[in-house]
Amino acid sequence: MNDDLDDIFEESEGGTDLTEEEKEGLIPSYISTRGELNQAEQQNIVKGELWAFTKKRNPLDIKFLNDLHKKMYGEVWEWAGSYRKTARNIGIDAYRIPTELKQLVDDTQYQLDHATYPPDELAARFHHRLVFIHPFPNGNGRHSRLATDILLHFMDQERFTWGAGDITRKGDVRSRYIAALQAADNHDYGLLIEFVRSE
Ligand SMILES: Nc1ncnc2c1ncn2[C@@H]1O[C@H](COP(=O)(O)OP(=O)(O)OP(=O)(O)O)[C@@H](O)[C@H]1O
Ligand SMILES: [Mg+2]
Repeated sequence: MNDDLDDIFEESEGGTDLTEEEKEGLIPSYISTRGELNQAEQQNIVKGELWAFTKKRNPLDIKFLNDLHKKMYGEVWEWAGSYRKTARNIGIDAYRIPTELKQLVDDTQYQLDHATYPPDELAARFHHRLVFIHPFPNGNGRHSRLATDILLHFMDQERFTWGAGDITRKGDVRSRYIAALQAADNHDYGLLIEFVRSE
């Protein structure tokens, strides 16, 4: 696992024009730069969040996770809510996504029912495993962080702070987050559990 995807994302910030490949499946025709795309996605995500928190929802359900991605990105991307079909630097082989997701929601439901872990650890492990599967072509970080906050809400816990800064941009918060995920790749969850409630 590495964060090459991150570097690609960071190199093409703000005013940079999107490539033809990056525009594949893009719905609003006015969008041509990275900045316009970020803004459109952010507006869509706000609506997705409002929908998600209108009531208590159990995110440990494959259909819910797909629907959530669609609610977050469906106004911007045609492929919102559909799994990727090709490999990424992060993530398992694409053909394994449905089975691994099923295993994840079943395992996490079991952990929840049997109080296997304290709530924060259960949620942090869920987050890491979901983003490790990397089900969608893009938007997995934001989707799996929101899904985790929904799980916390379902367990009557406060949402995570996720470092309380801008986790989507290069900087201290992002670096600590990625380092914590990499430790979790090696089954060490301590950094991630600490990070998710840090201020
Ligand atoms: N080593 C790693 N192990 C597991 N997950 C990782 C690792 N490195 C990065 N990630 C995850 O991949 C995400 C990036 O994937 P993707 O581009 O699909 O999501 P995004 O929502 O577009 O990005 P962002 O998180 O910047 O908003 C990161 O946010 C992080 O959650
Ligand atoms: Mg991305």
